[in-house]
Amino acid sequence: MPFHSLRRLGARALSSVRRLFARDRTPEERYRDFNGRYFSGFYEQERMLADKPRMEFYRAAIQRHIQPGDRVVDLGTGTGILAALASRRGAAQVYAIDHSSILETARTLATANRIDRVEFVATHSTEFHLAEPVDVILHEQMGDCLFDEAMVANVCDLRDRLLKPGGLILPSCFEFYCEPIKVRDSRHVPFIWELEVHGYDYSVLERQRPQDPDYYQVRSSDLALVEHCLGEPAPVLTLDLHTVNEADLPHEIRFTRTVIHPGRLDGYAVYFRALVDRDLALGSGPLDPGRAPHWGFRILRTDRDDFERGDIIDVRLTVGSWSEVDTWRWSHVKRARADAGVAPASCLPT
Ligand SMILES: C[S@@+](CC[C@H](N)C(=O)[O-])C[C@H]1O[C@@H](n2cnc3c(N)ncnc32)[C@H](O)[C@@H]1O
Repeated sequence: MPFHSLRRLGARALSSVRRLFARDRTPEERYRDFNGRYFSGFYEQERMLADKPRMEFYRAAIQRHIQPGDRVVDLGTGTGILAALASRRGAAQVYAIDHSSILETARTLATANRIDRVEFVATHSTEFHLAEPVDVILHEQMGDCLFDEAMVANVCDLRDRLLKPGGLILPSCFEFYCEPIKVRDSRHVPFIWELEVHGYDYSVLERQRPQDPDYYQVRSSDLALVEHCLGEPAPVLTLDLHTVNEADLPHEIRFTRTVIHPGRLDGYAVYFRALVDRDLALGSGPLDPGRAPHWGFRILRTDRDDFERGDIIDVRLTVGSWSEVDTWRWSHVKRARADAGVAPASCLPT
């Protein structure tokens, strides 16, 4: 057999083996690998470190709530910044753990900055064990959609195994938002079947709605995209990591907005707020003043619908797995002021 055919055979065999392994891996395992690689370089770390509202939020939270003498786990230490702040606050011992190769950088930085009482451990949190429980779990595990970096599973696992009764999780209280929004006209991109371009009609393509859940989401950190929320923003879910269990999170959320800013509904902006004290919170909402800029937000796209002031939007969000946004589905029903029901507008094909 000629050499080039052998090579092609080898490449094919290799890709079949890869596919086999890819199939064998759970979504959690695949996400774990992705996360470890994603945070291994300097770029993501520097974006987080340069996010002033984020860093000020954590500095104040640590200053107020970590007591001298505390034993602390820093879940996902990255460059070690939160572990260093905890140590400077007087923590007796900080275990700074990370499953990414960025941990080597954290070690270098701690030595260069003469940080002591921090033990760096290269491991995934689920494989981290201690003989004695700790006083505080410190973490920054919030994804753009709050849940998409497996925060609930990872923090709750450590809490149940390693946190003292009455111990502290910092931060622990979260608000999850899913707000009906209008995108600025100049930036609005309708679904292709909603288009007519110079008299050329695309509506026939509605029969070919893509099955790919990704198509129905826009990832953005561009604040100029969102013009306004149609209603008054309010959290659609709140949770406290001290008490929540992943299994208790609802698989369906229904909520209502009364339209105060009439116009087109383009989708739902997904974002979060973390709360430590009444005067200490961190927000990622596209319209939040003082938002933490390095977080993006997600827009869950909807079929075009127009609302008048006073109309009611009844929204239903169903969730297969909170950490996998691809399993989320959403639909709404419009109730005019006269309370007339209208058929639900579903986005994804059923
Ligand atoms: C958002 S970064 C935060 C880094 C750092 N704490 C900070 O505030 O700048 C999350 C870090 O957690 C790490 N990580 C994510 N999940 C982890 C897990 N289950 N166990 C250990 N490290 C994890 C990532 O590798 C990443 O470095």
